Amino acid sequence: MSWIKQKLAIIYRKIGVAILNFQAWRQLKKCGYLSLFDARPATAKPPVWSDLWAIYSQVRARRPKVLLEFGSGCSTIIFAQALADNAAEGAPGFLHSLDADAHWGQVTIDSMPEHLRRYCTVTLTERVEGDLDGTPVWRFADVPDVVADMIYLDGPALTPERRAAIDVLDMEADFPPGFRLLVDGRSYNRALLEKYFKRRYDRKHRPILKSTTYDLLPD
Ligand SMILES: C[S@@+](CC[C@H](N)C(=O)[O-])C[C@H]1O[C@@H](n2cnc3c(N)ncnc32)[C@H](O)[C@@H]1O
Repeated sequence: MSWIKQKLAIIYRKIGVAILNFQAWRQLKKCGYLSLFDARPATAKPPVWSDLWAIYSQVRARRPKVLLEFGSGCSTIIFAQALADNAAEGAPGFLHSLDADAHWGQVTIDSMPEHLRRYCTVTLTERVEGDLDGTPVWRFADVPDVVADMIYLDGPALTPERRAAIDVLDMEADFPPGFRLLVDGRSYNRALLEKYFKRRYDRKHRPILKSTTYDLLPD
């Protein structure tokens, strides 16, 4: 590809991201959810509206009973709001969120709006070094003993030496029918998971959002 084509591809992608972000911001504004993130400090990663709207929409559509999140933040708040809205329609669910960074995990706990606290718990737990057939990986030290119908993989923070977290592989045998894994970015992590998955999934990658879903297929 010539450099002009490459530049154009980057510009088109940036425009696509900006449009998606604006549309998502408008949807969340219409729901009255923009202020949910007001208690987060200025030093925290700001809300990515397109990611948050995608998360909200998936939880509202799928109505999971048990949600597990690796890596907390604004996503934890919108997950909890989606669960609250499901509960109001008679489809309750609960979110277990894990954070390997005690400071940022505590920020999530402290900034959770009062009305959403009953729908989630945030566990502060270390990431521990692991090894998968010679590949250095991360695992969370303290993973709740739950069978999740949806998992969001967005943590822990990766390092150049250790570019994947593999807790989902440890749990794979227990994934129930209708299970969905949602991964934010993490292309190396995704490729490693795909190499070691033992079950079959319908995989959809959304390049503009940089997110990938894996829906469990019947065995
Ligand atoms: C990609 S972030 C997770 C974000 C979260 N799932 C979301 O979508 O809002 C992964 C981890 O980065 C850490 N982190 C490092 N710097 C941070 C910052 N400035 N703001 C928020 N989290 C930060 C937190 O421990 C967090 O769990």
